Amino acid sequence: MACRSKLTPVLRRVATPSLKKSVAAAHPAVYATRCISSTAPRQLQASGTRGAKFTTDSYPEIKRDERFAQLTKEHVDYFKSLLGNDSAIVDGVTGEMAKDDLQPFNLDWMRKYQGHCKLVLKPGSTEEVSKILKYCNDNKLAVVPQGGNTGLVGGSVPVFDEIVVSTSRMKQIRFFDEVSGILVADAGVVLEVADQFLAEKGYIFPLDLGAKGSCQIGGNVSTNAGGLRLLRYGSLHGTVLGIEAVLPDGTILNDLSKLRKDNTGYDLKQLFIGAEGTIGMITAISIHCPQRSKAVNVAFLGVESYEKMQQAFREAKTQLGEILSAFELMDSQSLGLYYKAKDAESALEGEHPFYCLIETSGSNSDHDSEKLEAFLEDIMSKEIVADGVVAQDETQLRSLWNSREGISEASGHWGGVYKYDVSIPLKDMYQLVEDVRKRMEDAGLKGETDDYPVVDVVGYGHMGDSNLHLNVAVRRYDKKVEEALEPYVYEWINSKNGSISAEHGLGLAKKKYIGYSRNETTVGLMKQIKNLYDPNGIMNPYKYI
Ligand code: FAD
Ligand code: MLT
Ligand code: ZN
Repeated sequence: MACRSKLTPVLRRVATPSLKKSVAAAHPAVYATRCISSTAPRQLQASGTRGAKFTTDSYPEIKRDERFAQLTKEHVDYFKSLLGNDSAIVDGVTGEMAKDDLQPFNLDWMRKYQGHCKLVLKPGSTEEVSKILKYCNDNKLAVVPQGGNTGLVGGSVPVFDEIVVSTSRMKQIRFFDEVSGILVADAGVVLEVADQFLAEKGYIFPLDLGAKGSCQIGGNVSTNAGGLRLLRYGSLHGTVLGIEAVLPDGTILNDLSKLRKDNTGYDLKQLFIGAEGTIGMITAISIHCPQRSKAVNVAFLGVESYEKMQQAFREAKTQLGEILSAFELMDSQSLGLYYKAKDAESALEGEHPFYCLIETSGSNSDHDSEKLEAFLEDIMSKEIVADGVVAQDETQLRSLWNSREGISEASGHWGGVYKYDVSIPLKDMYQLVEDVRKRMEDAGLKGETDDYPVVDVVGYGHMGDSNLHLNVAVRRYDKKVEEALEPYVYEWINSKNGSISAEHGLGLAKKKYIGYSRNETTVGLMKQIKNLYDPNGIMNPYKYI
């Protein structure tokens, strides 16, 4: 689908000022007010189409922990009697289920990690989760908590025969206060469903990301997902007010606080935010949701250099101030992958090395439009930005966002993707992409034909948070590529005092590299916490720490 035809170009470096004015005049509501979508959540497609390997074949050095018991018919019978509902169990132990039924729980979104799980449990209540975990702990059965299975670090799928405990049947909204904006909901509520519920009340979920149609709020909190508007709404460490969680021994931790301020003792919920299912299972969350903005504008700009991207960001913060809600960076290669995979066209004519998507969200359409227009004219006149368009209706706005959000899926389109999600001080951030691109070329791994594993090396991400996504799109997962990338990328990040995981977490992918971002003392304390909460190590083994 070509989006250019749908967008009226309002900003052109070479265009006459009168063209800009006339376009604005012709469209009194030049800047679209974002409508609330009532469509059902979209299910994401796993990337790539080729056969996926088992994690145990790709990483034979990972050995099954012999402390864990093998699943037996007795175990399965217990879970059947507990859950009492055929649809709550996918049973491949007693041979009743085909491999195909288990595969969606065994294979991750990137088709890079695949486990050998034979049993999936879908509890319908916190009490059932408690009984499941207690039984697993008593019987030394390893467990992988799973939400929407959209995680990008191999944390959401088993390695060996761990039991998947899925929150997909726990999807009640328990409470919403229309005055304070506090929402309490089950872990299995899909992010987009929660947001649609809130939209009807004039509120917004303080997290948005490309996987919103599939990921679940329990999974979001467990990964401490950052997403597209962290710049505006802050991290889940700030917005989550409470959690309900089940510890491995079955203890229910009820800390579903609805208070914004509560300084009574250690803030235990913080440990579960970003714990990736290693110390317990989150069954519900309480979260503070902001008012939904009435006026949302999106501009999409072409920029000639990374230096100018930084200037544009600085100006956006200065001139847009409190209405700036997203500032996203894309290089031409990342958008190129999206346009190619989707057979779409750029909203801008000509090619630019960099693009940015700027969103404003405010309460006064005229005020916001004026501010945005003044900002755009200023950065155009200073030649910080070469070209740009502003969405003029909801369709255009969605189309621009789709091109940003769709890069994840497009990166895996040719067969697979090596993903690095890093925090680096802004001034050095893009250099990583250039260095890795050169490294792949020098190693003879990147090329146009099937002889080369690497299709392209691309960079995009949340510039507003100094968070870069370095993606190496490949035709197949290949050890030679992996060896050229790791530990090189992690050493590079360490040399800039960056973080090897800005928002996706550690999972299996980064477990052994934690030392590049955390010192020995910190890792030692983390291990003590893990042992305290989960002395038998049944929660999401082989991952994280
Ligand atoms: P899963 O993938 O099922 O699980 C993730 C981890 O959490 C696993 O370790 C799992 O064991 C654990 N877990 C899940 N549920 C629970 C629970 N109830 N209790 C305890 N542990 C649990 N991330 C970002 O931060 N920002 C983005 O912008 C972003 N965009 C994305 C876009 C796409 C297209 C995709 C595919 C992913 C994206 N992600 C992003 C990755 C992100 O981590 C997930 O999308 C999301 O937060 C995971 O939620 P989930 O329900 O799918 O969890
Ligand atoms: C994003 O920002 O698009 C996500 O974090 C997912 C990804 O990196 O692919
Ligand atoms: Zn991201």
